Amino acid sequence: MEITFLLNGETRTVALTDPTQSVLDWLRAEGLTGTKEGCNEGDCGACSVIVTDAEGAKPLNACLMMMPHLHGRALRTVEGVAGPKGELHPVQQAMVDHHGSQCGFCTPGFIASMAAGHLNGRHDHDDLLAGNLCRCTGYAPIIRAAEAAQDEAVPAWMHDTLPDLTDVAPKADHVLLPDSADALADWYLAHPDATLIAGATDVGLWVTKQLRELKEVAFLNNCKDLQTIEETDDRYIVGAGVTLAALRTAIRDTLPSFGELLRRFASEQVRQAATIGGNIANGSPIGDSPPVLIAMGAELTLRKGDARRTIPLESFFLDYGKQDRAPGEFVESVSFPKSAPDLACYKLSKRFDQDISAVCGALNIPRDGDKIGAPRIAFGGMAGIPKRAAALEAALKGQPFTEEAITAALPALEQDFTPLTDMRASDAYRMEAAKAMLIRYVRNAQGALSILEVKP
Ligand SMILES: Cc1cc2nc3c(=O)[nH]c(=O)nc-3n(C[C@H](O)[C@H](O)[C@H](O)COP(=O)(O)OP(=O)(O)OC[C@H]3O[C@@H](n4cnc5c(N)ncnc54)[C@H](O)[C@@H]3O)c2cc1C
Ligand code: FES
Ligand code: FES
Repeated sequence: MEITFLLNGETRTVALTDPTQSVLDWLRAEGLTGTKEGCNEGDCGACSVIVTDAEGAKPLNACLMMMPHLHGRALRTVEGVAGPKGELHPVQQAMVDHHGSQCGFCTPGFIASMAAGHLNGRHDHDDLLAGNLCRCTGYAPIIRAAEAAQDEAVPAWMHDTLPDLTDVAPKADHVLLPDSADALADWYLAHPDATLIAGATDVGLWVTKQLRELKEVAFLNNCKDLQTIEETDDRYIVGAGVTLAALRTAIRDTLPSFGELLRRFASEQVRQAATIGGNIANGSPIGDSPPVLIAMGAELTLRKGDARRTIPLESFFLDYGKQDRAPGEFVESVSFPKSAPDLACYKLSKRFDQDISAVCGALNIPRDGDKIGAPRIAFGGMAGIPKRAAALEAALKGQPFTEEAITAALPALEQDFTPLTDMRASDAYRMEAAKAMLIRYVRNAQGALSILEVKP
């Protein structure tokens, strides 16, 4: 199959033999070796590149992106960040001026992330660069460089247009790049064993780390109708293809605790690729959005051919690795309330940024006068699936909203969960941490502040 995209401002049409080849491998084979391979799993940012599509320019990890993801988009690598006559981009000049590089291995990735942030006028450098690791320089000079460059004009060459795709329709029997949910639904019905690939932040690792061969694949990133966020009076209806970055932008003012949790979901590069549909459909027990969505009473819409069904999200997760999804059926959207004033989301991980949760708690505890109303409490990392704490909810309902009463109800959590011990946490630590989240909730509601929540 052939795909067409812009590479550093020039149109390229590339014939692919392997649709799961990573953009990183392709670039380096092309001789564009400025883009580095560090971890090859989305953790270090050495492979960061800038990709522009209809939504705008974003930093992405080339190691997680597969070549068909590029079709119709513009790719700018570190080689294309300096001007045509070798003029340094403002972030490059600032890195020189502020001594932001020592061994230099991480520097191309930082430059790509910084240039994408600069192009978008972003000043939240700590968040933007949390997915770029540097082993020797230290982050202070790099952040100083980003700040020094932030108000400089964007160089003309950085404004990418998108390639003209008239008469270009990539096709191969075993690969589909649908441009609508309808096209996807028809094809998936006829190819129920195919692998759906959205952001590939999970699937990419099946290929690069587990060396799996994916025989039939469909890339969902051109299905614009799966990327919409609709609003009714009281609910959001979020298409499965909406990225975590777009979701965070849409909900951070109305659902601030969920927005803060999404700020800690992986890194900017991963959030710009990863979709809400992928985070649900992968069925991971440690995915961050399912506990939150379950605590808010989210509903999932699944589609098979033209048939749709809507179920409570919690009933989608049947057992470890097993979801309520039929062959040929895909996640179309998820809906949840636009307001949840009693919701608090707590992510516990070893690092603040770019880390997988040991425990993720979503606590939605409405009050009925001085008493607890009907709580919805869900945890990730405590069982083989994201799951509600039904016994704890029952023990809390109708109790006074006091630390004493909540503490008395906490043993019920042991009926709900028998957590595992793994490299992230022991079973006992997980249980203690989950219980502590309830205490944190009541103390926060009574005005106590966590040091992480103290704002300047
Ligand atoms: C470095 C790194 C950090 C990460 N950090 C976090 C984190 O902090 N929190 C967290 O929760 N996760 C994290 N993840 C995991 C991953 O980013 C998320 O699970 C992400 O939401 C997956 O979305 P995706 O679009 O990339 O899915 P893909 O990788 O494209 O797909 C994942 C699975 O879902 C299926 N799928 C995708 N879309 C659909 C659909 N519409 N219908 C049916 N099936 C579908 C695929 O077939 C596949 O089985 C991290 C991953 C990496 C690499
Ligand atoms: S090589 Fe580390 S994020 Fe891609
Ligand atoms: S300069 Fe050496 S890793 Fe960053």
